Amino acid sequence: MAKIESDIKAAAELLNAGKLVAIPTETVYGLAANALDEKAVAQIFETKNRPSFDPLIVHASTKEQAASLVEDWGPYFDKLYQRFSPGPISYVLPKTALVPDLVTAGHKTVAIRFPAHPLCRQLLEALDFPLAAPSANLFGKVSPTEAKHVDEQLGQKIEYILDGGRASVGLESTIIDLSSSKPIVLRLGGLSLEEINNCLGEEIAYTKSSSSNPKAPGMLSAHYSPGIPVAFGNLAENLQKVNRLKTGSISFCRKIAGIPENQQRVLSPRCDLKEAASKLFEALRSFKGQDIDVILAEEFPNEGLGRAINDRLKRASVA
Ligand code: TXA
Ligand code: MG
Repeated sequence: MAKIESDIKAAAELLNAGKLVAIPTETVYGLAANALDEKAVAQIFETKNRPSFDPLIVHASTKEQAASLVEDWGPYFDKLYQRFSPGPISYVLPKTALVPDLVTAGHKTVAIRFPAHPLCRQLLEALDFPLAAPSANLFGKVSPTEAKHVDEQLGQKIEYILDGGRASVGLESTIIDLSSSKPIVLRLGGLSLEEINNCLGEEIAYTKSSSSNPKAPGMLSAHYSPGIPVAFGNLAENLQKVNRLKTGSISFCRKIAGIPENQQRVLSPRCDLKEAASKLFEALRSFKGQDIDVILAEEFPNEGLGRAINDRLKRASVA
């Protein structure tokens, strides 16, 4: 079993020895290894059962710590970095030869993120290399927002989980590609499109990538599977098709008539999308072992973090 503690020294020692450590970030927990050590990175793919065509995000504490990884920051980076980093945004940028091809799945670009979680920052500052880290779940499953979620899926395979409490954002980072002439958002996440547009003073394109158009190759349509079928969309319509007694529900701020109370997850009674986002993955997990046949999930308002919530629920609903 993995140790679950908050000791930065112990985590750093393992990482220095080329081992994996699960780390807390403000978005979700990551499964980290020395990004410059190909052997260590290979273990990430093995441990998660992750296909090697799916590139990893590299985590650094500051732009300076990432300087040797990036060939050209381009004209948009500094503005975004000053406003949103550290925080839930990853930047896709042209990579230098220092970044192993395994990390980027052979792409000429690397995704870089500067996490805000204080324990994660302390760890990054204690290391003299950046950390490659995907979300610390088995491939295709729901991302972990607490140390115990990591333990459930990966506890047998890794030695140490650095416990930083509950992830405050709860959705993975927003990924923005800055490697071509115009920025493109590749994955909606913990930072809203509106905030990015606002910062740059222009409308940034969002290209939803899929397995047939793998701009962000990890964006397969089926993902975030809670192990129980999810019906996403119009709640009223879906309600008519199910046996309410064996149904779970995920809704924004209102309760659903006819579904037993303890099978309902109302993500934010005060209708706050940030709060809802932070509770989504926990809600998806929470139905396991409850004799539920189907989870009905309502469509959230298509604005702010609501877009990223809808994206995750849609993927969770693809079997
Ligand atoms: O918040 C997050 O981003 C979390 C925490 C741990 O930092 N990490 C995370 O990693 O969500 P992961 O591996 O579950 O998703 C990363 C996705 C990949 O699936 C891929 O789509 C995209 O990032 N990506 C990574 N490198 C890329 C690149 N060079 N070009 C395009 N997309 C890339
Ligand atoms: Mg993931």
